[in-house]
Amino acid sequence: MSTTTLITNIGSLVTNDPAAGDGPLGLIEGAALVLDGDTVAWTGRSADAPTADEVHDAGGRAVIPGFVDSHSHLVFAGDRTAEFNARMSGRAYSAGGIRTTVAATRAATDDELEANLTRYLDEALRQGTTTFETKSGYGLTTRDEERALRIAARHTDEVTYLGAHVVSPDFADDPAAYVALVTGEMLDACAPHARWVDVFCEKGAFDGDQARAVLTAGMAKGLTPRVHANQLTYGPGVQLAVELDAASADHCTHLTDADVDALASGNTVATLLPGAEFSTRAQWPDARRLIDAGVTVALSTDCNPGSSFTSSVPFCIALAVRDMGMTPDEALWSATAGGAAALRRTDIGRLAPGARADLAVLDAPSHVHLAYRPGVPLVSAVWRRGAQLV
Ligand code: NIG
Ligand code: FE
Repeated sequence: MSTTTLITNIGSLVTNDPAAGDGPLGLIEGAALVLDGDTVAWTGRSADAPTADEVHDAGGRAVIPGFVDSHSHLVFAGDRTAEFNARMSGRAYSAGGIRTTVAATRAATDDELEANLTRYLDEALRQGTTTFETKSGYGLTTRDEERALRIAARHTDEVTYLGAHVVSPDFADDPAAYVALVTGEMLDACAPHARWVDVFCEKGAFDGDQARAVLTAGMAKGLTPRVHANQLTYGPGVQLAVELDAASADHCTHLTDADVDALASGNTVATLLPGAEFSTRAQWPDARRLIDAGVTVALSTDCNPGSSFTSSVPFCIALAVRDMGMTPDEALWSATAGGAAALRRTDIGRLAPGARADLAVLDAPSHVHLAYRPGVPLVSAVWRRGAQLV
């Protein structure tokens, strides 16, 4: 029999279960939560809480679902401090810097890559992230993409094959041959380790036809698509994502009305990654426009050494509230339930009976403080699968 745990005296509890409390966040003031092993068993008001084997007093702190970071690139070596410095002196971001990380990643051992990955995962966990997706894309050879995914799969079920990040420097004169590799031998080696297939559909990376070829080849191998779309310029990525019923179109910084309409009419989540706009000094994605159009929006870090070297979902929430037109409630929802939707998961991103017991305790009376007190380390405890890890 599993142990039951009562977390009581919660100042405010975000359940993301509208049936359990107020508004879309299903907010309960003066709340309690019962965990049964790795699962949520009960939520409600403290005064009504059942007894349990163990009791934790939250001391009036807020409790939220653990963050679901549905977009990161954590299998890499080295960093790109010089490139960031140059950007902050006025140089524009170009995806060409990816090749710097490719060279460092190819030169690293498996142990070095895994140690690096673990370091950023620990960082993310301490900031409340209990589920993360991560990608290959800094290897660009069959051997290096396969090992990136193999290493990632030891740490998460949400593994994405991104052999089509940029054309490998080894194929600079023959991009078509690189697409053939990505959709052929490399895909065969990578698909067993991955759930998702992704492509960077952008000028300087892969055009609409190439992106379609990459995604449909992955789908034929049982992978579900997600797309780096419309980050640096307008382009075909978002509409291609919706057409192929991708789980998510990520970035969505440059959108036409037709792109917004497509997202609103399909099942594809728009995943916004404000760490990238922060770190590249680019225009902010317009979350307000998407939400008002009825699009499901997720908020994630895009953690990578080039365009967004942050593992902090709270930082992204603060940016989204300050600069992207989101309310604190919307940003919290997008970083939890929205991330779960972008991963087509219903077991995470909410604290309702039957959901996974993944949660963060904030040293604050409410989740609003994540945006109200930016840069302050408010996450004081983290539970994953019913175990307190932080
Ligand atoms: O999501 N856009 C493409 N890929 C990454 C950037 C990778 C890099 O610059 O190393 C992104 O922002
Ligand atoms: Fe990315």
